[in-house]
Amino acid sequence: MTDRELMELAQKARETSYSPYSHFRVGAALLTKSGKVYLGCNVENASYPAGNCAERTAIFKAVSEGEREFEALAIVGGREGETSEFCAPCGICRQVMAEFCGGDFKVLLGNPEKFSTYTLKSLLPLSFSSKDL
Ligand code: THU
Repeated sequence: MTDRELMELAQKARETSYSPYSHFRVGAALLTKSGKVYLGCNVENASYPAGNCAERTAIFKAVSEGEREFEALAIVGGREGETSEFCAPCGICRQVMAEFCGGDFKVLLGNPEKFSTYTLKSLLPLSFSSKDL
């Protein structure tokens, strides 16, 4: 699985986004160390805080299927009807990544034609995790 292929899967996942309130559509593709991919999209709710981001949908799907070892996460997001240029993960999603992924976990942001690679430690420096408890 190349980084570009993972971005293409995130773009595909964006098609299922349920975002009737924000009209901001996000897709995520999570690659496990064993080579499987879990897709996620944002799922909103009339009670706004009940909604879930695409990244957490993908991570929770994977963990609920018994996966805990992750290699990379691709994220594609943007306003409805527009191609994504760049969608950074929110702070809660970064914290959820930190629960399961090390600092070298790869996060791919942009779109399949143009994206950048970040490490989790660059996106969430000085993170709080189980090792602090
Ligand atoms: N959203 C995501 O799914 N992931 C992000 O990285 C940023 C924001 C969603 C949440 C909400 O459904 C919509 O985008 C607008 O905030």
